[in-house]
Amino acid sequence: MTESGNITWHESKIKKEDRHQLNNHRSAVIWFTGLSGSGKSTLSAALEACLHKKGIRTYRLDGDNIRHGLNRDLGFSPDDRKENIRRIGEVAKLMVDAGLFTLTAFISPYKADRDQVRQLVEADEFIEIYVKATIETCEERDPKGLYQKVRLGEIKNFTGIDAPYEEPHYPDLVVDTDQLSVADSVEYIVAYLKKNHFIAD
Ligand code: ADX
Repeated sequence: MTESGNITWHESKIKKEDRHQLNNHRSAVIWFTGLSGSGKSTLSAALEACLHKKGIRTYRLDGDNIRHGLNRDLGFSPDDRKENIRRIGEVAKLMVDAGLFTLTAFISPYKADRDQVRQLVEADEFIEIYVKATIETCEERDPKGLYQKVRLGEIKNFTGIDAPYEEPHYPDLVVDTDQLSVADSVEYIVAYLKKNHFIAD
């Protein structure tokens, strides 16, 4: 739905396929979802470094960073989280069109919102990675001290405590960070990307 009428789509002379050819690789969204503290940011940053080293063009969109700029007007109500993911989905779509592997690290707690992003791009351009860790592990790690604040009653509607996290039913990949190191997790994702011909062997 658009608010503005009288707008027409203007095609570029250069298409996504032309950019793929120039880059020598495809593009896709690599969507990390999971609880706060599960390892999304760490893993996506490590994967990006690994892909970059292989000569692959990437960009990373991270919840905490995006909430400093593009989405600074949004909080953590269900509607705001939905809008947060909708905007990121649209930005990620543009970046895939620009020929980049776009790594996103957002809790993205609602299945419907993640599925909506999947629908925005081609069927083979969305890889959903569930970064799985128990809430106990996340709370123990507490990298930003937020779980402690939740326990002190200073933060409300915190995902996994008093706000829901809907686990993906059919993620493309599950990375269990209770079990795997960062290096092993990256290796596991890279193997998936090779096996499914997103990147060359
Ligand atoms: S999402 O739910 O809308 O997808 P997003 O990934 O953008 O969340 O932001 C999550 C980050 O915001 C967390 O990693 C944490 O640092 C911070 N945060 C602040 N308040 C909350 C909250 N109530 N629930 C979850 N994360 C929060």
